[in-house]
Amino acid sequence: RQQEKIRNFSIIAHIDHGKSTLADRILEHTGALSDREMQDQFLDSMDLERERGITIKLQSVRLPYKAKDGQDYILNLIDTPGHVDFTYEVSRSLAACEGALLVVDAAQGVEAQTMANVYLALDNDLEILPVINKIDLPSADPERVRQEIEDLIGLDASEAVLASAKSGIGIEEILEQVVTQVPAPAGDSTAPLKAMIYDSLYDAYKGVITYIRVVDGSIKKGQKVRMMATGKEFEVTEVGVFAPRPMAREELAVGEVGFMVASIKNVKDTRVGDTITDANRPAEEPLAGYRRINPMVFCGMYPVDSSDYDDLREALEKLELNDSSLRYEPETSGALGFGFRCGFLGLLHMEIIQERIEREYNIPLITTAPSVVYNVYKTDGEVISIENPTHMPPSQQVEYVEEPYVKASIMVPNDFVGTVMELCQSKRGEYVDMRYLDANRVNIVYQLPLAEIVYDFFDQLKSGTKGYASFDYEMIGYKTSKLVKMDILLNGEPVDALSFIVHHDKAYYRGRLFVEKLKELIPRQMFEVPIQATIGNKVVARETIRAQRKNVLAKCYGGDISRKRKLLEKQKEGKKRMKAVGNVEVPQEAFMAVLQMD
Ligand code: GTP
Repeated sequence: RQQEKIRNFSIIAHIDHGKSTLADRILEHTGALSDREMQDQFLDSMDLERERGITIKLQSVRLPYKAKDGQDYILNLIDTPGHVDFTYEVSRSLAACEGALLVVDAAQGVEAQTMANVYLALDNDLEILPVINKIDLPSADPERVRQEIEDLIGLDASEAVLASAKSGIGIEEILEQVVTQVPAPAGDSTAPLKAMIYDSLYDAYKGVITYIRVVDGSIKKGQKVRMMATGKEFEVTEVGVFAPRPMAREELAVGEVGFMVASIKNVKDTRVGDTITDANRPAEEPLAGYRRINPMVFCGMYPVDSSDYDDLREALEKLELNDSSLRYEPETSGALGFGFRCGFLGLLHMEIIQERIEREYNIPLITTAPSVVYNVYKTDGEVISIENPTHMPPSQQVEYVEEPYVKASIMVPNDFVGTVMELCQSKRGEYVDMRYLDANRVNIVYQLPLAEIVYDFFDQLKSGTKGYASFDYEMIGYKTSKLVKMDILLNGEPVDALSFIVHHDKAYYRGRLFVEKLKELIPRQMFEVPIQATIGNKVVARETIRAQRKNVLAKCYGGDISRKRKLLEKQKEGKKRMKAVGNVEVPQEAFMAVLQMD
């Protein structure tokens, strides 16, 4: 049976340990791409798509492989996204596999991110095959790393392949291990269809392309299918595999990995982790593990030039087509005018979207400081979730507030234990555990408020440990905290876009630092500008920006409209992106200043 000849696997690795290089080698070795094709055609077509601004998602590749036992196998290599923001997507990609190669750099050893991905793989009952990569490096110490894999992860690493993806060493051995050690897919070919969605992508011509793993039954062109989480039904117009180019097929059978097209207009109808079943002969239960994912971090996005508002909405609409976890809704700020409140999985996700709007859609943005979602329990019994600090009710109406917490694992060399603990402590961290991984390295576990991580935790960690720390976190839920809203007044006027939520014990300190920072960032104006930080009606800090003595540009603002426009254009181009707040010109950096206050 064909099913017994299928091996579905993925590669897990810490960033830079060589995942992409190894994947390329495996493609080459199996002849999925001839050398020439790889360079001339395949990559060319990717460049073309890149130029058109389409993100390439080569989510799985079907590789024919003749093993040493003389039999022909089908290896499906499934890609996983590479960042903590996308943990859920990673876990669903892994759920589509029976095995995973665990690539560890022979010089660097096991890192926090490696551990996190290994746990995800273990949760999904995968057969994990360790690969020690980069053995060609002079600093490689494969025996130490082998021991580390055994001690830290508890895997038998005695058969770990010693490889160099760069020099092409160990590739065949890896493929043989995949064939002999990764189990063939289980699953019942006669049962009602169950296929898991592990990713999807919007294509302008075909609509949504859904990446699926068939777990039971089979899926064919013309079949009517139902999404079990949403109940929506569609008719399948195409199924196929990536070989590595998309190739239409009559059907995808049990155990196979490939794509489905069904004139679906919106990626939100193809939720990652959802089960596709046959509408006429539905499965009783969906596959386990589906979760609706919610954005964790929110910020306001406003066009610098308010006439860009409609373009910004269009840009967000387009980005949303391909990004089921991006959320946005219109928002009005007294200070910044019309814009959008946008929700993201995490900071990286937020930065990616901001950058795409500015680069691909050419819309200069003012973004407000990111905020997490707080649960506010009001004295009248109402409970509200707030994504924008501005919406925090006055303190006399608030019974208590909860904020999201994460469990963070930080791996560092011995010497930095003190630095890391101090940092975590200063971020309101609660110590959980510390374990020596070997003579030199320590894994430190803390519970931390997500809000503190959103503010430049990672940068501080990196600089405090000379880049040696590796870091990973997962959400653990909400906890009560003593939080207050800090308002900022410029020239006596509250600026809603500068409000932030802060822990009571740090309020004075942060308030003072913040106004000092604003004083630095906001250029002198024609008049004196007082900056005040207030909690409720109480002023906790104050600074004054002195008036400019002489202003050569002042005349421009009077009459000469073309010079004024030129000046504005220059401002738009240059780094000093300004927004008039009342009669004060405030640069973009000021809205982010809250992120750099420790
Ligand atoms: P991300 O794509 O950033 O997640 O990294 P990755 O894990 O995919 O690593 P990638 O394959 O991009 O490799 C990272 C760097 O390590 C590149 O500069 C590679 O050339 C290098 N590299 C990969 N494999 C080897 C190897 O076997 N030996 C040596 N010396 N370098 C390697």
